[in-house]
Amino acid sequence: MNDYTYEKKENLSSRFNKYLHIVNNLPILSLNGKVKDVIGSLIISDGPNAKIGDICKIYASSGKTIDAEVIGLRGENVLLSTYSHIDGVTYGDRVVSFEKPLSIMCCEEMLGCIINGKGQMLDDSNFPYYAPSIPVLREPVNSLFRNRISEPIQTGVRTIDGLLTVGKGQRIAIMSGTGVGKSTLLSMIARNTNADINVISLVGERRREVLEFIERDLGEEGLKKSVVVIATSDEAPLMRLRSAYVATTIAEYFRDQGKDVMLMVDSVTRFALAQREIGLSRGEPPTTRGYTPSVFSELAQLLERSGNSDKGSITAFYNVLVEGDDFDEPISDAVRGILDGHIVLSRTIASRAIYPAIDVNQSISRLTPELVSQRHLASIKKFMRMSADYNEARELIMIGGYAKGSMPEVDEAIRYKPIMDKYVQQGVFEKFHFNDSKTSLLSMFYSQNDIELEMANTSIKNDSASENMVENNSLEVHNTDDVNNEVIL
Ligand SMILES: Nc1ncnc2c1ncn2[C@@H]1O[C@H](COP(=O)(O)OP(=O)(O)O)[C@@H](O)[C@H]1O
Ligand SMILES: [Mg+2]
Repeated sequence: MNDYTYEKKENLSSRFNKYLHIVNNLPILSLNGKVKDVIGSLIISDGPNAKIGDICKIYASSGKTIDAEVIGLRGENVLLSTYSHIDGVTYGDRVVSFEKPLSIMCCEEMLGCIINGKGQMLDDSNFPYYAPSIPVLREPVNSLFRNRISEPIQTGVRTIDGLLTVGKGQRIAIMSGTGVGKSTLLSMIARNTNADINVISLVGERRREVLEFIERDLGEEGLKKSVVVIATSDEAPLMRLRSAYVATTIAEYFRDQGKDVMLMVDSVTRFALAQREIGLSRGEPPTTRGYTPSVFSELAQLLERSGNSDKGSITAFYNVLVEGDDFDEPISDAVRGILDGHIVLSRTIASRAIYPAIDVNQSISRLTPELVSQRHLASIKKFMRMSADYNEARELIMIGGYAKGSMPEVDEAIRYKPIMDKYVQQGVFEKFHFNDSKTSLLSMFYSQNDIELEMANTSIKNDSASENMVENNSLEVHNTDDVNNEVIL
């Protein structure tokens, strides 16, 4: 078969597939209802006979067709939330149930594509005919069938790989107030990770930010191995809510193919706000800060779906926008409780122009001790301790009130401070291989011989994603003449 016929056949099959998808989604038996009330974004209809989660279409007399989902039942009435804005809907408009929950098509060809909150390609292109249709709301993998998290994954961010080592299949929150660098940090991970595939969910961001993220931060190189799912702040709450599930479903599809997937959601706070809008509209009682009880159960359902299965892994980073820099607000609190660690970005550190502004002492990766070697762990502990000692004495040091020699730990922390600051700083487009992040940390406390011995046994292999990475650790080895090479814990 020559190229031309092959191409023609491909075109035909994908055109045919478009109609197949439409036919598949037609209701077998027309289950009709009628719009009865519209309150805010909630539509109440008399019938159809539908279940929670079923997709319905509202045929507005204005000629508009709106997709909706059943979010509640009250007596004979059906409560619907829509995927788009409801202008044009009026009394008596026809509501048809499809008797099916939302499902999306998934395939390898999605790589490099941008998808909307309902799982459709944003440029309206079709999925190939063989793409399976997968329901978006599913149970997480049974924990009995999950592989243990045993191997580190490279994020390419030195502070994370070196000090807060993350494992394949681990789930971590990145938390801060606005404008401290969460999205930038996420884009660095997307470009630098050694995961096979990135699935990036941008929930409730402004349109300008989304464009900037895709074109500037992710770039062509990052987009090639990513699927980006977007639902911007101006879209309906249901679209924003489901977009995070769509991204998770795509990540699960690639995990089922045996891939190591990096799932990134920016942000779960906006996901929670979307659920709060839906919850309030259907009459749920508001609890702390107006969040309805369903917000917390939805959060748990979403966050529990990432992680390892018996086939592949989904390592996940969830951004949390901390309202008013109050880290005890309910969403931060709930997310911290569900995940296996959190990275806190600090406004104070950012204000000193230290980026990424990770506050290592406030951050924790619960699995690090199981993922790193003895020497690596000892170096982490030593670094953390010195950083905490310095922070405690910072004010005294700044006003010149600290007398050298009064506290040996503080003296040591002061001596190490410049090299610690250098270690945690990284330019947005600077990349570090996992092994380099590790050796430059170890070089602060161990001799070159010890490091070589260590790396011979425990380094993670170089891969294509790290080809352009900084060759040697760019950090100068600290002169440790006056510091015992053994780490004091
Ligand atoms: N690694 C970095 N290096 C330099 N500047 C940074 C870095 N990370 C963030 N910034 C600065 O912080 C600003 C806000 O970052 P952004 O990622 O949009 O924050 P957030 O997502 O937390 O609101 C950026 O526009 C940039 O100026
Ligand atoms: Mg952001």
